[in-house]
Amino acid sequence: MFVLVLGSAAGGGFPQWNCNCPMCAGERTGEIIARSRTQSSIAVSTDKVNWLLVNASPDIRTQLNANHELLQPARQLRDTGIVAVMLADSQIDHTTGLLILRESKQPLELYCTDSVYEDLTTGFPILNMLQHYCGTNRHALPLDGTAFSIPTLDNLRITPVSLHSKAPPYSPHREHPTPGDNVGFWFEDTATGGKLFYAPGLGEIEPHLQPFFADADCVLVDGTCWTDDEMSRRQVGTKLARQMGHLPQSGEGGMIEWLANFPAVRKILIHINNTNPILEETSPERAELAAAGIEVAFDGMLLEL
Ligand code: MLT
Ligand code: MN
Ligand code: ZN
Repeated sequence: MFVLVLGSAAGGGFPQWNCNCPMCAGERTGEIIARSRTQSSIAVSTDKVNWLLVNASPDIRTQLNANHELLQPARQLRDTGIVAVMLADSQIDHTTGLLILRESKQPLELYCTDSVYEDLTTGFPILNMLQHYCGTNRHALPLDGTAFSIPTLDNLRITPVSLHSKAPPYSPHREHPTPGDNVGFWFEDTATGGKLFYAPGLGEIEPHLQPFFADADCVLVDGTCWTDDEMSRRQVGTKLARQMGHLPQSGEGGMIEWLANFPAVRKILIHINNTNPILEETSPERAELAAAGIEVAFDGMLLEL
């Protein structure tokens, strides 16, 4: 399977439009060595022709244009390599791109949980809005551990995995966490045997996730914050990373410590917040990741599993 990282930053992107934290300001002025990054999304394919878009970022137009050799097959006047869209949650950074896809000739084949579908038809009613354009053909994601496949994505088996997290502020069940508010995905290529666990939002490594971490060739997981109190350290907010459903990398019980328990060939962080010092390629934090065998995803990164 081929995994193309379309956007490797968290909500806001990097640099974020109104942010002058050392990372954002440093990237703009060139004072630090860092790549700019668009908001969180990947595309998955087994043939490099038909692609599953996983999360639809507000930056999708830029992302599709940046990767047109892979995603724009140009077989007819209006065309796309994207055959379906699948959502991990109903956050703005993962769903707003659906509106940008409104020119689609067909209803968008949309895979999401019931809980995400509810959010996107009530608190953030973009699916209702899309009915006035291309519309969607919605498929419910199973949450009982069963795998499914998507027509034209040959040999790709997908198992959604429920994650403990919080629904967005506009969700009707913001204060009542519901299974399906946030999911990770286990991808298997039945031809190559490649296995990927993808979870851009991951608050804790719950026991039911450990078999996926243990069996994966590649884990592509939450890299939002380095420390739990990063937002307040940078004086840009007060919320803790864990309160936002993001496990920080450093410290006791952090992502680095967790990943050391698992043998995955590639361990890659994605959904990096603009405040995170790992964005600076020469930072000590980045060196600590490298020493632990952990990579940082970048826009345009292509994995083959
Ligand atoms: C998150 O995952 O917490 C989001 O990136 C927040 C947002 O999009 O504003
Ligand atoms: Mn996010
Ligand atoms: Zn910033």
